[in-house]
This record gives sequence, structure tokens and C-alpha cells, in this order.
Amino acid sequence: MKNLGILLSGRGSNFEAIARNVQAGEIPARIAVVISNLPEAPGLARAREMGFDARFIPSKGKEREAYDREVVAALKECQVDIVCLAGFMRVLSPYFVREFPNRILNIHPALLPAFPGMDAQKQALEYGVKLTGCTVHLVDEGVDRGPIVCQAVVPVLDDDTVESLSARILKEEHQIYAEAIRLLVEDRIRVEGRRVIPDQPGGGVAAGARERTVP
Ligand code: GRF
Repeated sequence: MKNLGILLSGRGSNFEAIARNVQAGEIPARIAVVISNLPEAPGLARAREMGFDARFIPSKGKEREAYDREVVAALKECQVDIVCLAGFMRVLSPYFVREFPNRILNIHPALLPAFPGMDAQKQALEYGVKLTGCTVHLVDEGVDRGPIVCQAVVPVLDDDTVESLSARILKEEHQIYAEAIRLLVEDRIRVEGRRVIPDQPGGGVAAGARERTVP
């Protein structure tokens, strides 16, 4: 069974969704460790309550690669196969990415390549798009740039605030993150250049995209 390592810096709702899916057998893997770079991250406290190996590895005042070496050492000690970034507010060094080639996933609250970086929901609202969503992608050495595994589309409503839009996107994040992790855990994705092709048992349409109408 594959081991997951979850990295977070905040609320941890994506971590909790992953944990629920693991518990329900939807993701056939084990959460080997949860790591936060911030001591006060609610997600870290939640992971402890849930009985996971939950570690605070402080990043403050450390060079990027020096910090990443500590995190990678902890992940290797826990025999982690797949790393899931779940609101981890740090850019990974090339060293980290090379240690887990095509084995690191990130979730971003917009339809990449639109609105990378911080405050993606606010960027989408201010830009005036009518559809936005979320993206799970493999992590390469760029920021919010690696090959896309799954996306979900969410409408932007006329009376949306950043909060209401973020909440609508978050529901989809929890769904597609589990789907993407499952594909990677089951070794069912093939990467061709920038394209990620899910292998469907028995063929069929790629499972990596979903569309939603107005709720
Ligand atoms: C999510 O919106 C995710 O897309 C982004 O950071 C946020 C983390 O939320 N990368 P949570 O901590 O998982 O609740």
C-alpha cells in the first residue's frame, strides 16, 4: 500500500477530505505523515486529534533548500511515496521536486493556467470571468505550472463575494483532489509532455475533467 505525506500551512480542509476518502477506502493508501511549517495551523491540530503522525517543522529563517532537506528527510523516514500539498504556502525547491519526480500533487483554486499564485478566487472575481474552478496538478520546478491531472468548473454568480465563490470552489477541490490522488496511487496516469492521460480500466473518456452547472 502506498504512503501519502500531506504538507499544509493552514485550515486543512483538503487534508481532512483526503483523510475521509482514505478512511472510506476511496483512496487505497495510508497517510504516513502530516507536516506543517507553521505551528498554529489548524490542520496540524486536527491531524493530531485524528491520531496521525503530525509534525511541525519550522521554516522561519531557513533557506529554501535547507528547509526542504529537513522535510524530505522526514518524508523519507516515513517512507512516503506520494506528497500532497494541501494549502502548503511555500514554493518547493528544485531539490525537493527532484526527490519525488511526478509524485507531488498540488491543488489550486482556479482553472490553471488562469490566475496562478495567491488569492486566485479574488483574481477571478475581479477579472470578471463567468466560470472558474480548481485544478490538481503535478508539481514541477515552476509555480502552479506542472502537468494538469484534474480540473472542475464552477460558475461565478453575479452576487458572489470572494467568500461565497471560494466556498463553492472548495467543495469541488475536495472531490477532485481525492480523484487525482486515487489515479496517482493506482499508477493510472501517464505523463506525455504537459499532458496527463488517465488510464481507464476498459478504456473510455478521461476522468480528469468535470463540469458543473449552477447549483
Ligand atoms: C485551498 O483553497 C487550496 O486550493 C489552496 O489553499 C487552500 C487550502 O485550504 N492551495 P485548506 O487548508 O485545505 O482548507
